[in-house]
Amino acid sequence: MSERLEDIALAMVADGKGILAADESSGTIKKRFDAIGVTSTEEARRDYRELLFRSDEAMTKHISGVILYDETIRQKAADGTPLVDLIRKAGAVPGINVDAGAKPLAGFPGDTITEGLDGLRERLADYYKLGARFAKWRAVIDINEDENVPSATSIDANCHALARYAALCQEAGIVPIVEPEVLMDGSHDIETCFEITKATLLQLYAELYAANVVLEGTILKPNMVVPGKKSGTSASPEEVAEMTIKLFRETVPVAVPGIAFLSGGQSDEEATANLNAMNAMGPHPWKLTFSYGRALQAAPQKAWGGKKENVAAAQAAFTHRARMNGLAALGQWKPELEKTA
Ligand code: 13P
Repeated sequence: MSERLEDIALAMVADGKGILAADESSGTIKKRFDAIGVTSTEEARRDYRELLFRSDEAMTKHISGVILYDETIRQKAADGTPLVDLIRKAGAVPGINVDAGAKPLAGFPGDTITEGLDGLRERLADYYKLGARFAKWRAVIDINEDENVPSATSIDANCHALARYAALCQEAGIVPIVEPEVLMDGSHDIETCFEITKATLLQLYAELYAANVVLEGTILKPNMVVPGKKSGTSASPEEVAEMTIKLFRETVPVAVPGIAFLSGGQSDEEATANLNAMNAMGPHPWKLTFSYGRALQAAPQKAWGGKKENVAAAQAAFTHRARMNGLAALGQWKPELEKTA
C-alpha cells in the first residue's frame, strides 16, 4: 500500500467502507465488559478483539481501518499472529489512539483538556514501527449553558492541542484523525449543538492552518448535529442530516478528504439512519462515513457474552452492523434491511 499521507487518508474513507473504533481504554472496556458480565482480563480483551478482526466479511468488505489501544497494537492472537497482521491481511489500515485522555481544565470548572503531547514524537515513531499508519486524538467539549460550558478557553486549548498532535503525526508518516467531540449528553437543543460545534470546527481549522498541517492527509472525526439527550426532544435523520451538512459546508475545507463520524451514544440504528440521510443528500465535497465504537460493537458484545460458543453469533452481529453502515456510507441503506440480520 502507498505510504503517502494523502493515499492512506483516501483508503480510510474508501467507498462503502468505514472505521472500526476498537480503542477503548482499559477503563472503558471494563465498563463494556461489566455490562455483559465478563471480567476484563488481558486474555478476554484479546479474545474479544480477535473475534472482531477475524470477521472476514465485515473486515474485508466494510472496514477500511481499525483504531487500536496501546495494549492491542502489541497483542498476539491465540495462535501467535500479531493482531495488527490480522487487520492488514483483511486489507484494513491499523491505527492507534495516542491521546492520554481528557482531564479537568484548570480554572474552568466543567471543561476538560485532552493531554498527551509530551513524548508524543517518540511514541509515534514506536507506533509506526508496530504498523500504525493513522492515529486518533479526541478532544471533549461538553455543553452546559447554565455553567458557561464550554468556555472559549477550552475550545482554543483543545484545538491547539489537536493541531500540535496532527503536525507530529504527519512528521511521522501517520495520518491524524482529528476528533473534537461535542458531547450529546446535555439538555441543550439542536441549534445550540450546531453553534458550539461550529465555533469548535472554525477554531480547529484555524489552528490546523497555523500549524502547517496538510489537510489532504487528515480525516475529521466529528459529532453529528443532534439535540442533547436530556433535552427531551429528538430529531429525524433528515433534520440531523440537513443541520450537519449545513454546518460542514460553513466550516470544513474541501481539501479534507473525508469525515468519519463518532456515534457518541446514538442507538445502532439511529447512527446508521443519520449517516445514510446525509449521504442520500449528496454528492458532497468530502466522503462521509463512520468511525463508530459503540454503534458497531454493542450488538457483537451482547451476542458474545464472553463465551467461546457465541463467537460465530458475535461475528454475525458485527458483520450485520458493518454491512448496514457500509450501505449508509453510500446512501443506500433502508430500514427494511435491518430485518435481514
Ligand atoms: P463512539 O462511536 O462509541 O462514540 O466511539 C467512537 C470513538 O472513537 C470516540 O472517540
